[in-house]
Amino acid sequence: MSHVQVRPSGAEFSSLKVTPRTLLEKKRNHQPITALTAYDYPSGRIVDEAGIDLVLVGDSLAMTVLGHESTLSLTVEEMLHHARAVRRGVRRAFLVVDMPYGSYHLSAEDALRNALSFVKDGGAEAVKIEGGHRRASLVEELTAAEIPVVGHIGLTPQSVLRMGGYRVQGRSNPEIEEILEDAAALEGAGAVALVLEGIPRELAEQITATAKIPTIGIGAGPGCDGQILVFHDAFELTFTSSAKFVREFADAGSVLREGIARYKDAV
Ligand code: KIV
Repeated sequence: MSHVQVRPSGAEFSSLKVTPRTLLEKKRNHQPITALTAYDYPSGRIVDEAGIDLVLVGDSLAMTVLGHESTLSLTVEEMLHHARAVRRGVRRAFLVVDMPYGSYHLSAEDALRNALSFVKDGGAEAVKIEGGHRRASLVEELTAAEIPVVGHIGLTPQSVLRMGGYRVQGRSNPEIEEILEDAAALEGAGAVALVLEGIPRELAEQITATAKIPTIGIGAGPGCDGQILVFHDAFELTFTSSAKFVREFADAGSVLREGIARYKDAV
């Protein structure tokens, strides 16, 4: 069997599998990259069928789906369980799986073992890890093992204890310098894309203009190569008020509540 993909043209092209190369082409052609999180088979399938480019099985599932107060307690097993379900629903989008807190902090060997399990067992096409230049050598090792890596810098929720809360990063000059260094180090180490979370729009624009790899923003202004939102934030399925930057695109929570009330009345 040949592994060479023959490129169809026209309408067929838009249904082609999204890969890091597709994201790179989109950046070069100034076409916005669309990304959303998904946590199970139906959300993965709905998001994929809507033509979103990148689906992230985010560790935000610890909060949105499992009801925890932060992402810190999520385990590799829990993540794998959700990744497998999303995998069954996603065909076209680039499927990225978050490495949970603690799964890449002990040693490079442990991180590699966990990342391999997300690829082999969870069906991930890339893993995402949080942190900047201190993660560069790990990004190199994962890349050398043929695992594409998406970096995540700025407001990194797994650093909530160190940051003392979920605070916008990159407001002071030393912080700006560090975030610029983070972006350059991860790109140099082989990351295929960068998530920029909770940083000033001017800083995100500067990184986007300098980086050769795509940037995907969340709370980082409109100047990134793409945007990502947490599914439950975008469609009003949360029980707390969302961050200021979150725009809601549908009120699925109200639709469900009304539907359940109608069912109850009918019974
Ligand atoms: O876990 C997640 O949902 C994320 C996004 C906020 C980018 O990391």
